Formats: sequence, C-alpha cells, structure tokens
Amino acid sequence: MSLTSQPKLELHLHLEGAAPPAFIRGLAAEKHEDISGIFNETGGYAYRDFWHFLKVYEAATSVLTSPEDYRRLTLAVLEESAASGVIYSETFISPDFCGGRDLVAWREYLAAIEEAAAEAEAKMGVTLRAIITPIRHFGPDKAREVAICAAETAGRFVTGFGIGGDEKSGEPADFLWAFDCAREAGLGITAHAGEWRGPDHIRDTLRALNPSRIGHGVRAIEDLALVDELAERGTVLEVCPGSNIALGIYPDWRKHPIGQLYDRGVKVTVSTDDPPFFHTTMAREWDRLADALDWDQGVFDTLNRTALDAAFCDADTKAKIAKQLEPRA
Ligand code: ADE
Ligand code: ZN
Repeated sequence: MSLTSQPKLELHLHLEGAAPPAFIRGLAAEKHEDISGIFNETGGYAYRDFWHFLKVYEAATSVLTSPEDYRRLTLAVLEESAASGVIYSETFISPDFCGGRDLVAWREYLAAIEEAAAEAEAKMGVTLRAIITPIRHFGPDKAREVAICAAETAGRFVTGFGIGGDEKSGEPADFLWAFDCAREAGLGITAHAGEWRGPDHIRDTLRALNPSRIGHGVRAIEDLALVDELAERGTVLEVCPGSNIALGIYPDWRKHPIGQLYDRGVKVTVSTDDPPFFHTTMAREWDRLADALDWDQGVFDTLNRTALDAAFCDADTKAKIAKQLEPRA
C-alpha cells in the first residue's frame, strides 16, 4: 500500500523547524552570514540533544529577517508538505521571530506568510492555517506580547494559540494571562506538554490552560489513569513519532506509545514537528507507522477524521477539506 499520495492532515508543524537546510544555507549566503556550524558534513542540521536543537533552531531562524524571507520559507515548506500528500496543515508561527513582537511588523510578516499560503493553495492544493506561539523559555512577559499579536490578528488564517520551546522552563500557570487573552480572541488552544516532562506536567497543563489539544502528550503513557482521562475528555494529541524517536525519547517505532494510546481510546493525530531536523516527512511517518504497528487504511482514515474534527479552522474550510477526504469513485 503506497501511502504517499493519500490525503493527509497535519496539525503540528513549526514553520522555521520545517525549513529545508538548503533553503537556510542559501539565505545565509545571500546575507553573508556564517552559520555553517549548525550543519553536518552531509548538509543536514546538526544537534546533540533537544536543548542544543533549540539553539540550532534559533540560529537557523536568525537568517529569516524579513517578511519576504518568510514568504519564500512558507512556499518552500508547503512544497514539501504537498509532496507528502498533505492537504491541510496548521503551522506554528511566532511573533518572537517575526518582527520581535512588534504589532506593526508582525502584521507585515503575517501578510507575507498568508500570501504564500494562498499561492500554495492555488498551485499545490494544500491549505494552511496558523497557530501563534510564544517560545516558553523566553518567559511569560514575552508570551503576553505574543498573545496580544495573536489576538489582534485572529481570524480566518490565524486560528490557534499554542506554546513551544523548553518544556522544563516555568509552569503552565505562568502563561495563563497569555492563554486567556488568546482564548477570548476566539483562538483554538493547544500546548506542548508530555514531551520532556511526564504525566504530572500534562495534568498541570490541562488544569491550568484547558487546551483542546496537547502537543506531543505521549508521556501520558506513564500513567494509565491520565491516559483514560485524556480519552474521556476527548483531548486530541498532536503526536510526532519521528520527532520523539530522533530526539531519543523512544528508541524505535515499535516502542513508541502511539499505538497503545490509540488502542486505549485517546484521540491521536500524527505530525512531523520539524521534519528536516528529524529526517522525516508526513509520508514517512505514515509508512513507518504502517510497518511498525500494522496500521491499516481504516486507522489512517481515523487519524485524518480526528485531525479534521480537532482543526482550528472555520466550518467552511473544514467542509472543503472533508470533501477532499471523500473517497473518489
Ligand atoms: N519547537 C520546535 N520543535 C519543538 C519541540 N519538539 N518541542 C518543543 N518546542 C519545539
Ligand atoms: Zn512541536
């Protein structure tokens, strides 16, 4: 069964983290910036562990300095998504990187990203929506400014609010003001948790921020009562198995807990997180899961349906994507 051409939805993709290394190298050369230290001998991104990954990520992002850079980046990223059969994608974008949380600059970056998204939709058939994201280790004060940027630009394109970065930095409640601000603006809510901290942190995140989705959440498996709570609440997990394996959270695809979470009734979806960093694509994620877990077409259809239900876009967009998922005669 070739899964590559099958339509897929992706809910968890960091825009800068999806930048092809050759794209970042090219941009660095145009700007005469030397960031050669972040690449390995074969031209891929080089990092030692998650915390070093965050540094390499920020170094790569440092060459993205204008709305035009982000327009080009968005097109390059969506080309890769479309090649994997992705028809709907939600991407994390941060005003921390796009204009330093200045609202005027942020609007310009966003307009450029949205322009690229419209072009990609017309040419490649992939629809993009944005989840605005503070960087956790930049702290709660900056997160408030990010939330204001998000609230001011909420609408058809900006549909969600999340938080990424170093999960060990601060507590969920520290970010309550930012999340309340985003929620009041009508944005869907997600938060990274249960990647680098365990079940208690997932619980704290649920209690403090009440997200409908959790980024990763896989370490819930260490506490089956929490797994059952997630299933009962209907919390959707944005699971990124290839990312977890590349970063060493699980040793291989067979030992990854996504199958157990699914079997126990948790609503799981599959995403790539930062695909070139983790040597993955959406097509590869599906292929590896089919191989390791013996997942059949019915499971992949369920993943797509769960992602569509959990997507933060408006009803018209959902209806359009639902049509694209209908089996063709
Ligand atoms: N930012 C980019 N990738 C991330 C990840 N896997 N976890 C937390 N923050 C991130
Ligand atoms: Zn992530």
